[in-house]
Amino acid sequence: MTNEHAMWLPDEVSRAVRGRSIAVIGDGMLLDTVRAEAERAGMTTARPGDRADLTIVPAAQAGTAWEEPLDLDGLGPEGFVHTQRDGRAVVVYGGASGALYGWFDHLRRSLHESGDGTDRCEPRHPLRMLDHWDNVSIHPVMGQVERGYAGGSIFYEDGRVRADLSRVARYARLLASVGINRVAINNVNVGRREALLLTEDLGEVVRIADLFRPWGIRTHLAVSFAAPLTIGGLDTADPLDEDVASWWEDAATAVYARIPDFGGFLVKADSEGQPGPYAYGRDHADGANMLARALAPHGGLVHWRAFVYNHRQDWRDRSTDRARAAFDTFAPLDGRFDDNVVLQVKFGPVDFQTREPVSPVIPAMAHTKVALELQVTQEYTGQQRHAVYLAPQWREVLDFAPFGPDAAPLSDIVQGGMAAVSNVGDDAFWTGHPLAQANLYAYGRLTWDPALDPRAILDEWIALTFGDDEAARRGIRSILDDSWRTYESYTAPLGVGFMVSPLRGHYGPDVDGYEYSPWGTYHFADRDGVGVDRTVATGTGYAGQYPEPWARTYESLETVPDELVLFFHHVPYGHRLHSGATVIQHIYDTHFAGVERVDEMAATWDDLRGHVPDDVHDRVRERFVEQRRSAREWRDQINTYFFRKSGVTDERGREIY
Ligand code: GCU
Repeated sequence: MTNEHAMWLPDEVSRAVRGRSIAVIGDGMLLDTVRAEAERAGMTTARPGDRADLTIVPAAQAGTAWEEPLDLDGLGPEGFVHTQRDGRAVVVYGGASGALYGWFDHLRRSLHESGDGTDRCEPRHPLRMLDHWDNVSIHPVMGQVERGYAGGSIFYEDGRVRADLSRVARYARLLASVGINRVAINNVNVGRREALLLTEDLGEVVRIADLFRPWGIRTHLAVSFAAPLTIGGLDTADPLDEDVASWWEDAATAVYARIPDFGGFLVKADSEGQPGPYAYGRDHADGANMLARALAPHGGLVHWRAFVYNHRQDWRDRSTDRARAAFDTFAPLDGRFDDNVVLQVKFGPVDFQTREPVSPVIPAMAHTKVALELQVTQEYTGQQRHAVYLAPQWREVLDFAPFGPDAAPLSDIVQGGMAAVSNVGDDAFWTGHPLAQANLYAYGRLTWDPALDPRAILDEWIALTFGDDEAARRGIRSILDDSWRTYESYTAPLGVGFMVSPLRGHYGPDVDGYEYSPWGTYHFADRDGVGVDRTVATGTGYAGQYPEPWARTYESLETVPDELVLFFHHVPYGHRLHSGATVIQHIYDTHFAGVERVDEMAATWDDLRGHVPDDVHDRVRERFVEQRRSAREWRDQINTYFFRKSGVTDERGREIY
């Protein structure tokens, strides 16, 4: 952990406010954080009675700092109004966390010559969460961080919570600066050792929560549904058993006695081998509500994951469709969940693939608080060895309007806010690939305002991280801007997904790696065609889980978008896409183009030597060597596979093996 990188908050960021004066009005821990921040930035405290260059003031006293009336009506606890004229700025905050967010907002603005004016800023959702899949002890297969590509955990080492947690404090500051306000600190797959965080090791969790608190971040724990049985000494974990309910109540009471702002429990139940209510003939509402009732008196939440499917499927059975599973399980339960249950739904119906349709579970749960779950860690998108900026994908998801273009976008429907799997580890750059920091930054910014433009977020991140070098700005922007689509172009085609290697932890191509497996992720390629028939007419019926107009849009080959055609349909290789290309020619063309594009990205990066710090340059260059190799491997395996299956040659006669 030497030379830990500052991410988007290098001290340089405060150059514009350095030496200026500040008055922070108000008391409490978060206001003290703001004062310490101002001092760190080199600001001076204004003398009482003097006009400060920046005043941070509660809404009730706004009039003392700003002469003109401001629209403060209904300003929430996390909101603030930023106003500025003639070099003097005022942040009026609704609650203490609004002061903190207003501070970081001011810092960002100060980087540009932002003009005079007034902005009212409030997060779209109160729940803006980051989940760590960190294990306390090293898991034999998954390691310290499950699907982690940035070294060890910042929380745990050698089977326990780290003695030195100072890095967690710095992490909390970074997260607060982008608006994250909740962090789950352990893996959703909860081992026996990890289950003890709730009980025996609570003192260690207290230490972590103490570090997050000054940054307005509440700590959550992933818990094992079987805990009463495995660590509690009971002979059942049945959610309708009174002893089980009181075991959880006692556990919750003990947690709140020491962590009064504890966020709640995150639960993966009856999923991929994790225990759940099914063992007792109960359903997911029974399970979630029992935990919710233990937390409710203390103001805690249950984040209950909807990632439930049969992972022991028979690949011969074409009637079972993993994509259907979450909807089939949860849609009938809509309306049965308690108010403090948040159903956490992965953005797509399968598993964080590069391209999936938006999950139909989200629009199906009108009477349930639903949170959208994203994956910042790049499990299926290049594992932080490939430069892939994910904000454009997330924006497409957030913009998806399940009830048609004139109705509300997904970002308005998810009343439970957003959650995502973190991409951070104890790596010097935090995220392994330094450019992957942009994903963490963008995720935070989108949780705050899902309508932000991914490109504007990218520019903001570049300016904060790399300063105002114009060549760096242009180069990094051109590398990352379209990198998600580039990654899509040289990997699994047209939405079919999952052509990844089971043996190498989902890294790199293996077209048939999952084809005859129990995991429910198949492409059904044969000599004539490829894709999964999920239509109502002839397939699994999954398309029918969408409201109109999407059910009929996806059902028909005439209207299904090209990028999802193989997700919804099994088509012949000669099928013509809306783009005019046949499926097979599209596969060849995109795979050749994708590799060329990666070569260009790498060349652009080479040219940035001297425009970014050398250590960043070296690390990214090293990653590009691997990305170029891997992209070629993808191109050649995918092209060769489909050439051999179909016998159709490339129109342009390029090399296929
Ligand atoms: C994926 C991932 C697992 C993870 C699971 C989950 O399947 O590969 O490592 O546990 O998602 O979201 O629970």
